[in-house]
Amino acid sequence: MGSQPHVIVVPFPAQGHVAPLMKFSHQIVDHGIKVTFVSPDFIHERLTTTMPMKSSIRLVPFPDGLEPGDDRNDTIKLTNSFLEALPGHFKDLIEQINESDDERVSCVITDGMVVPALKVAEKMGIKRAILCLAGPATLALVLSIPKLIEDGIIDAKGTPLKNELIWLSKEIPAWTSTKLPWSCPGDSESQEFIFGHVFRVNHFVKQCNWLLCNSFYELDSLALNLIPEIMPVGPLLLANQSGSHIGSFWPEDSTCLSWLDKQPVDSVIYASFGSTSTFNQQQLDELALGLELIGQPFLWVVRSDIVNEAISEFLDGFRMRIADRGRIVNWAPQEQVLAHPSTACFLSHCGWNSTLEGISMGVPFLCWPYFTDQFQNKSYICDVWKVGLELNPDENGIITRHEINTKIKTLLFDDGIKTSALKLKEMAKKSVTESGSSFKNFESFIEQIKH
Ligand code: UDX
Repeated sequence: MGSQPHVIVVPFPAQGHVAPLMKFSHQIVDHGIKVTFVSPDFIHERLTTTMPMKSSIRLVPFPDGLEPGDDRNDTIKLTNSFLEALPGHFKDLIEQINESDDERVSCVITDGMVVPALKVAEKMGIKRAILCLAGPATLALVLSIPKLIEDGIIDAKGTPLKNELIWLSKEIPAWTSTKLPWSCPGDSESQEFIFGHVFRVNHFVKQCNWLLCNSFYELDSLALNLIPEIMPVGPLLLANQSGSHIGSFWPEDSTCLSWLDKQPVDSVIYASFGSTSTFNQQQLDELALGLELIGQPFLWVVRSDIVNEAISEFLDGFRMRIADRGRIVNWAPQEQVLAHPSTACFLSHCGWNSTLEGISMGVPFLCWPYFTDQFQNKSYICDVWKVGLELNPDENGIITRHEINTKIKTLLFDDGIKTSALKLKEMAKKSVTESGSSFKNFESFIEQIKH
């Protein structure tokens, strides 16, 4: 072993995976370990333009196997192609790094979805860590897939065979059979794709040297206790680290922070739906009108990749009408927005990263889940932690402006929710400060890599 330990980090090529693994990488670097961060070249390009890099993290682009004109928004095509092309490049990279005795690869870290990297590392005798980026209850469900199949609850493609709730334990919210993390009603191709990937995680979790997760023990001890080998090291936040560094695919519009400075304390509704959710025009209109109806300032993230001509025209008109009362941005510095004293609540799709960030900043949620783990995260937010309320669609499947207006007003006047949110914030902070549960797990992981 050379003088400085060296880890290679390989995220699944999606924003919700790249960003937390980048935060984790910076945390590792801060502890004297060298990090090489691998991503498909089009993501690499985005990272290098949006991110002020610490020199100690080396970003390495890999070809994604697609032709230059191919659609990189087609997640299935991109992922399959990237994962197929990965092993050869990955093996070459490790061999190249290992040529220098000072930097030999000590460990490969992925989020579990990048199985080919784990296979290459295993063959080359390199230690492997999986960092789970969904909540512990979701991981526990994924690890139960073989049993769910054996018990006739789902078939080998993940389709539920019984229309009943799925309980892992009495203390953990049950899953609705149509809202499993891999459910894509009416889209069997996507469901097979997601299910295939999460199913494979089972095997590799058992083979890896460390199973880490972006959560903290006090947040969900009951689900974590179902996975004895797990080491929670979260919440992974920019705020926990020194310096500014991000892993965003889009440039952040930080002008919204000075706009937030001008708003009254606890007044702003922050609406943001992660990196993949999309709206149809009718739903987008209702959301806009709902935000307007509330009569309070709002900050709304509308990603540039969902703005077509019709949306763009609608937003221009809407912007004029609301003037300075609301702000619409392409991409916000989310952690800073949530931490801002003017932010009163978080209208969120309940992706796991957003969930942890909202919790860490003590912000109450208004939940609007779409798919994957988001329904389960919503159940935790509303029913277990009691830090939010859920939006319910009408009989046509639309979340109306009136529903948004009523629920936000209820949320803003609910002192119980605010108190619970502040308690969780304290717990989250404690877990990553010296002698906290996640802090200790992280230190132990680092020590093991170093020796
Ligand atoms: C996806 C899935 O949707 C989610 O359910 C799963 O748990 C992780 O993968 P995504 O939709 O991108 O993730 O949501 P989320 O997990 O919340 O991650 C979004 C990230 O983008 C967060 O870290 C958030 O801070 C960041 N973000 C979002 C910004 O930095 N700026 C924005 O304007 C919006």
